[in-house]
Amino acid sequence: MNKNSLLSMKDLSAQEILSILDDAKCFNSSHDDWQLPMRKALVANLFFEPSTRTHYSFESAEFQLGCKVSDFNAETSSVKKGETLYDTVKTFESIGYDAVVIRHPEDNYFAQLEDVTIPIINAGDGRGNHPTQCLLDLLTIYDEFDSFEGLNIVICGDIQHSRVAMSNKQALETLGANLVFAGPKEWQRPGFPTMDFDEAVEWADVVMMLRIQKERGAALVSQMSDAEYLEKYGLNKERYSRMKENAIIMHPAPVNRGVEIDSDLVECEKSRIFKQMYNGVLVRKAVIKRAFGLKPFKED
Ligand code: NCD
Repeated sequence: MNKNSLLSMKDLSAQEILSILDDAKCFNSSHDDWQLPMRKALVANLFFEPSTRTHYSFESAEFQLGCKVSDFNAETSSVKKGETLYDTVKTFESIGYDAVVIRHPEDNYFAQLEDVTIPIINAGDGRGNHPTQCLLDLLTIYDEFDSFEGLNIVICGDIQHSRVAMSNKQALETLGANLVFAGPKEWQRPGFPTMDFDEAVEWADVVMMLRIQKERGAALVSQMSDAEYLEKYGLNKERYSRMKENAIIMHPAPVNRGVEIDSDLVECEKSRIFKQMYNGVLVRKAVIKRAFGLKPFKED
């Protein structure tokens, strides 16, 4: 495996996380036109699951950095003829690609890619990890509060099926935040500390809502109407009114308006949902730069 790959937040120390965030911030200030120094930087985006934000913000970041980008379509590829993920990725390596971005429905899919030598950036593996989503979440929190130490954060919703919850747990605990989880008890994960959501909305500096991952078997909700879910577990206007004055709302999106969050709150004053997407391009630029073995701006 290439050492500049990014597969899971648990592979990064607090210092490495902060270094990526600082580099992402530099892209926003004096380095917004910065491009990779290499003449040829071929990147393939291999998405085996639906995606809008992650896919196209990677693509935006790649274009801005001057990469040559190929979009892989599993439906029209040899995957349809039974080719394995390993053989597919090894093919991209053999035909001259310098890095790959992969989203795949299987947890830990990258375990089978040990012998790939080009850097792999994980854009989401099943219920396992979503490191670049986590980094953009961290950047959004960092922009707001300048630190993670002692910050109160609640993540609410379908924790069991969420790779966002998993990656954020690994990173936020490393960074010293006070993190709790809320939502239906059927969807909690062993080892994840819980708090009643009604209590947590008053305690939290960050309220992060998650989408119900029906495609991963979150069946419980099929018996519950959207309005009922919002009332019991969602961020509705009543809970919003009890949030701390400087607290913020986050959501990795796609948002199911009127289910996990009241539609009117998606763009309310406390919401950072679209800011998260903006930050997604910045952190992906930093992660791609790192994948190409380049030092952060501050170390140069
Ligand atoms: C998340 C994902 O794909 O895990 N979305 C994203 O990357 N922005 C969360 C989700 O799909 O609910």
